[in-house]
Amino acid sequence: MRLDKFICKSTELTRNEAKKVLKSGEVRVNNEVAKNPAMQVHENNVITIDGQQLSARGSRYYILHKLADTICSNVDEVYPSVLHGIEVDKAFDLHIAGRLDADTTGLVLVTDDGRWSHNVISPKKQCEKTYRVWLRNEIDDDNLSALVAQFDTGLQLQGESSLTRPALLTRVEKDDLVDEASYRSEVLLTITEGKYHQVKRMFAAVGNRVVGLHREQIGTITLGDLAPGEWRELTENEIAQFS
Ligand code: URA
Repeated sequence: MRLDKFICKSTELTRNEAKKVLKSGEVRVNNEVAKNPAMQVHENNVITIDGQQLSARGSRYYILHKLADTICSNVDEVYPSVLHGIEVDKAFDLHIAGRLDADTTGLVLVTDDGRWSHNVISPKKQCEKTYRVWLRNEIDDDNLSALVAQFDTGLQLQGESSLTRPALLTRVEKDDLVDEASYRSEVLLTITEGKYHQVKRMFAAVGNRVVGLHREQIGTITLGDLAPGEWRELTENEIAQFS
């Protein structure tokens, strides 16, 4: 890890403040003055500022129940970043493991551990993400099994060179509907990749249109009773499945 990043991770200092401290000559790595912010350091290096030894803070892992009209970016654009909702020190040093569109609600994982988020996102890791989807057009009984088979076989999305990976489509039965009025147009879709607007494009590819989208599950992690807008730390077990 870069020395300036290590200092940020183990103190309250921002990246700019860390660079200033480095310039001042107060930082030592294995007792040698170190001024280069890009210097690569490891956990077994002894790093001190003004004689005080730093110890690396562990990585951070959170789950957030995303509201509509927020964005999964570290920069506010038309809508505010979801990171405003996570009231921890240096929240903007965190990143989102698997972005959702501004109008999509539901489960978002947030961390500063790049290797961990790679395990969540990379299609090679085949991590399952389940979405509850509301569609403009109802799926009739007659069409259901053919559609399920199409999603299982893979769909050709515009601009993509390969079919989507097998996806599991199930229509939500009456007792399990979130919206009572949407029988036949409320479905669950489980996918193991995350192409741009993937769920919306998959339904567009079969002539339908997504009118509401909510992520319910990633791997075995669910929102449970986390209310919209709330967040919490992930448990050790939840973290372990992507470590
Ligand atoms: N697929 C989409 O189309 N949008 C999302 O936000 C997530 C998956």
